[in-house]
Amino acid sequence: MKYKAYIVEDNNGAFNGSIKELEVPKLEEGKVLIKVINSSLNYKDALAATGAKGVVKSYPFVPGIDIAGKVIGSSSLHFTEGDDVIATGYKIGMSEFGGFGEIVHLPENWILKLPKNLSHFDAMSYGTAGLTAAACVKKILDANVKKDLPVIVSGATGGVGSISVGLLSKLGYEVHAVTGKSSEIEILKIMGATEIISRDDYMSEPIKPLDKALYSAAVDTVGGDILAKIISMVSNHGVVSCCGNVGGATFSSSVFPFILRGIQLSGIDSAESSIDLKSELWNLLSDEWSLDLVNQTKTIKIDDVGSEINKILKGDQIGRVVIQHGE
Ligand SMILES: NC(=O)c1ccc[n+]([C@@H]2O[C@H](COP(=O)([O-])OP(=O)(O)OC[C@H]3O[C@@H](n4cnc5c(N)ncnc54)[C@H](OP(=O)(O)O)[C@@H]3O)[C@@H](O)[C@H]2O)c1
Repeated sequence: MKYKAYIVEDNNGAFNGSIKELEVPKLEEGKVLIKVINSSLNYKDALAATGAKGVVKSYPFVPGIDIAGKVIGSSSLHFTEGDDVIATGYKIGMSEFGGFGEIVHLPENWILKLPKNLSHFDAMSYGTAGLTAAACVKKILDANVKKDLPVIVSGATGGVGSISVGLLSKLGYEVHAVTGKSSEIEILKIMGATEIISRDDYMSEPIKPLDKALYSAAVDTVGGDILAKIISMVSNHGVVSCCGNVGGATFSSSVFPFILRGIQLSGIDSAESSIDLKSELWNLLSDEWSLDLVNQTKTIKIDDVGSEINKILKGDQIGRVVIQHGE
């Protein structure tokens, strides 16, 4: 039996993706075969599709770190044929073929049952971006950050950023959104931001060791100098959830926000977080934390993923891209 997939090949350092027919793998012990109904596009998938170092182990390879689908074969005691399931992160789309193919073959301990109130499509409109946003917000809640000052979110129109804006706003925080897209003020307001800050304006003054403490907490999806600036502007005992590097992998700061304001810099690694934490976050997203993402989700066929990859690499995506397999 064959299935359709977007497979990336390495032609002497030039990475090209195309749709091909692949052989369905033979079911191995402790693994589950899943017919993928929806997947989604995340920044890491774009890196995988373009041969960025440190993402994919070897090519040819099928990217796609997010999966929502139906079990079609199982050698696990926990899953049976017909189960609706989700899987995100771990080595999916890095060393195991991922959701840009119609079938995946995954270890049982990477898979969760789809929460009752979520469809496959809903789950993928959150995807890893939503799970990461939920993990960032949970760090802020777990530290009992007060609501007397706003929370700042960077990369606000992106997948993680936009869902973070929505979650924080739903949970009663005032949200200030930093964006490079001056044209997207209205959509950011719909997502729940009360103030939109242009990235250029935010970065126009030099970064100080300690700046005005304007924010109670932050979700930073960008890294680099924006993260350094944010750290300098978080108030006493605030939390900065740090999850991304689209703006740079290094930053320089001082000890003062940490020793004079007692702030915490919390790293987020959603891919390798425990399956129990993933389950807790999916349950929240399907229930008390559920968001209407209809205005910020685009649906595409797998044939169109190439152009969407180019857009996400340029920082031009808004919200989420869900891939619909099949006709
Ligand atoms: N640690 C984890 O577990 C984890 C999980 C998921 C994602 N991530 C990381 O989080 C980041 C965001 O992922 P995503 O899927 O949300 O990507 P995305 O949808 O492309 O969003 C990134 C957003 O960042 C802003 N941006 C892009 N390039 C920038 C630049 N050069 N300087 C400043 N801002 C820039 C843009 O928003 P504006 O135009 O609104 O500023 C863009 O929409 C990525 O680095 C990704 O690898 C980490």
